[in-house]
Amino acid sequence: MENSTTVSLSTQIGRVALPVCLYNASGARCTTAQDLLALAQSGAGAVLSKSSTMQFREGNPAPRYYETTLGSINSMGLPNLGHEFYGQHAQVHAALQSGKPYIVSVSGLSLEENVSLIGFYNEAAGIDAIELNLSCPNLPGKPQTGYDFEQVQHVLDAVCPLAKQPLGVKLPPYFDIVHFEQMAAILNRYPLAFVTCINSVGNGLVIDAHTETVVIKPKNGFGGLGGDYVKPTALANVHAFYRLLRPEIGVIGCGGVKTGQDAFEHILCGAVAVQIGTQLMREDMPVFARIAYELQTIMQQKGYTRLEDFRGKLRYL
Ligand code: DHB
Repeated sequence: MENSTTVSLSTQIGRVALPVCLYNASGARCTTAQDLLALAQSGAGAVLSKSSTMQFREGNPAPRYYETTLGSINSMGLPNLGHEFYGQHAQVHAALQSGKPYIVSVSGLSLEENVSLIGFYNEAAGIDAIELNLSCPNLPGKPQTGYDFEQVQHVLDAVCPLAKQPLGVKLPPYFDIVHFEQMAAILNRYPLAFVTCINSVGNGLVIDAHTETVVIKPKNGFGGLGGDYVKPTALANVHAFYRLLRPEIGVIGCGGVKTGQDAFEHILCGAVAVQIGTQLMREDMPVFARIAYELQTIMQQKGYTRLEDFRGKLRYL
């Protein structure tokens, strides 16, 4: 404790400075004004909104989120308050002077909707960056854009010339080395500030043997997995993209972070910042200060004073 001031968790996502490298994953406790205010007052180093669409959406029928000892499954269906709310919240956030950036997640239902949303957020004061979601697995009949490499190029060709704020993309997990290489080659052609790895592992199925039923209602129980189930996949994606992307594109780690050690592992794999989803749902806002303290303790024990002392320095056998 007495040395904690000598260990900094500050970081940069492109030109955006964060006082602490930990913040929420989009979707976790970031939909309403109350959620976003609580994040601004928490130990998080940034506030990221729920993925937004032009219109308000109710989302899928409940139950649509379920936790197990090893993680979570969700099929929320993009419930959100619509673009005007997240654009206006930017002014509220700025007025709080929390010293942390406000990032808006964009998840239009079509290329045209993404263009409209990014055009709108460009003009809204107080937005520090945009995370374009290419990986929602929960819309019946809509494949995840991130698995259609041609469509990814169409979307980026359309939105990159528009974006005034730093723009990043949230990717689905990939499971093949060739896919890492192909996607990185595409992303390297665009002026992206960051890439977030990973969204949930799509279309898992958690069932209850006792009741002999699925545990969530939409899509016959199929949904996106988070938590312990996904950490090795998340680390693989973070490290693969860290190695393959231009160094100006920061990789943001997301997946299976519930302790300071998990955050340390993401940063060792190359992450410039780390998002917390399932564990934020479980533990609520105190999660940020706890994991920050645990991460600082590990860094102190190892003699590290800043993230750059170990970021990306994973060693091979
Ligand atoms: C939802 C889930 C996601 O994984 C995502 O990226 C966007 C939206 C949802 O179901 O609301």
